[in-house]
Amino acid sequence: MAKRDGFGSSFGVLVAMAGSAVGLGNLWRFPYLVGTNGGAAFIIIYLFFVLLLALPIMYAEFIIGRRSQANVFGAYKALAPNTKWGYVGIIFLMASVTIISFYSVVGGWTIDYLFKALTLQFDSSDPQVLSGMFNKVVTSDIEPVCFMLIFLGATAFILLSGVKEGIEKYAKVMMPLLFLIVLFIAVRAVTLPGAGAGLEFLFKPDFSKVTAGTFLAALGQAFFSLSVGAGTIMTYASYVAKRESIIGLSVQTALSDTLFAIIAGLAIMPAVFAFGISPGEGPGLVFITLPNIFAQLPFGYVLAIIFFLALFIAAITSSISMVEVIVAYLNEEFGLGRRWAILLSMTVIAIFGTLCSLSQGALKEFTIFGNNIFDCFDKFSANILLPLGGLSAVIFVGWRMAKSDCVDEITSGGVRKYPAFVVNFIYLSIKYLAPLVVAVVLVQGLL
Ligand code: TRP
Repeated sequence: MAKRDGFGSSFGVLVAMAGSAVGLGNLWRFPYLVGTNGGAAFIIIYLFFVLLLALPIMYAEFIIGRRSQANVFGAYKALAPNTKWGYVGIIFLMASVTIISFYSVVGGWTIDYLFKALTLQFDSSDPQVLSGMFNKVVTSDIEPVCFMLIFLGATAFILLSGVKEGIEKYAKVMMPLLFLIVLFIAVRAVTLPGAGAGLEFLFKPDFSKVTAGTFLAALGQAFFSLSVGAGTIMTYASYVAKRESIIGLSVQTALSDTLFAIIAGLAIMPAVFAFGISPGEGPGLVFITLPNIFAQLPFGYVLAIIFFLALFIAAITSSISMVEVIVAYLNEEFGLGRRWAILLSMTVIAIFGTLCSLSQGALKEFTIFGNNIFDCFDKFSANILLPLGGLSAVIFVGWRMAKSDCVDEITSGGVRKYPAFVVNFIYLSIKYLAPLVVAVVLVQGLL
């Protein structure tokens, strides 16, 4: 059998993992959820969930993926042969397909806006005009579908070159670039006159507006932002060498992701308040707020190009990680060549993506419990499928795998030495803490 593709260097693994975690989840979803869920209080609950839940789940996915060196179905089949555990893979595939379907629509918007920036279309600083522009984009029938297809094409292009020559190579260049760009925009935003109210909104909590719904939204966002619960980490981990540290990589990934989310908040909220835009604007927040800053600054058009380029980079390094879950599955379980696996995944995603894209235009009337198709995909995946997927991973590692195998992975076969309490704490958080908290929040939020 041909040697399985894999990551080449430690830095390569880290940027690929961080590239998956840092994405539209940080730059687009996080700011608008902070805005609609009341600011600092939401952020605190979110950070709590990242530490308490998303991180243990990340360890669990890592352990399963690296130990089995297989796709999300093959992994369970390898570690629990002749059991029904393999079916858990269905949750991961469903989650990956539903997320990438709406994600690629937003990815398309970023290309559309990059194009608008390049052709100097942001000449108004009137929030009304900018929100009109955003609405025109998302409600039209052809334009966003075309841009979504371009986004998927770019994703397929990177994936075609494989793990080391595709995913790793692109992430190595794009991630450092992304960090510099977003930091630059944040510094500019924080120094705007009137930025203070935005900073207060970000850092001064008001717990009076917190409901069970806030908890569920924060939980969904923690999973979404760290890319856990959809088999992404599991699939990437299957390409990671045994010598790499699971704890080190998971903590570094979570830290970079959180850092990016905070910087994104700093880049957006001060401007929202400085320009009198409503923080509860919803999914259009980034697309309406930032062109507004750009229109008012000298050389703003350059900033606009840089920013939308960053948004696109963030989105693409995440979308490749989601599609890789599906590609690895088709490739290894059905023996489909990589090219065909990519083509087949892209066809399915393009169909669902088109439905999501049209959900604010031609298919506007089609709603389920008052949510259009796009919102259904978003909420169903982030708030239900990801927690379920994460729950299954921690239950598998905590209750089905032997503790010794688990410790063997955490310590890279005994090579890495950690104090016993660290290893025990990690093991117990996988076995008891994470499953319990996910179950409670899930049940509370759904009732
Ligand atoms: N975490 C990415 C973001 O913040 C999106 C993402 C990639 C994702 N892979 C995932 C979300 C798996 C959930 C599950 O944009």
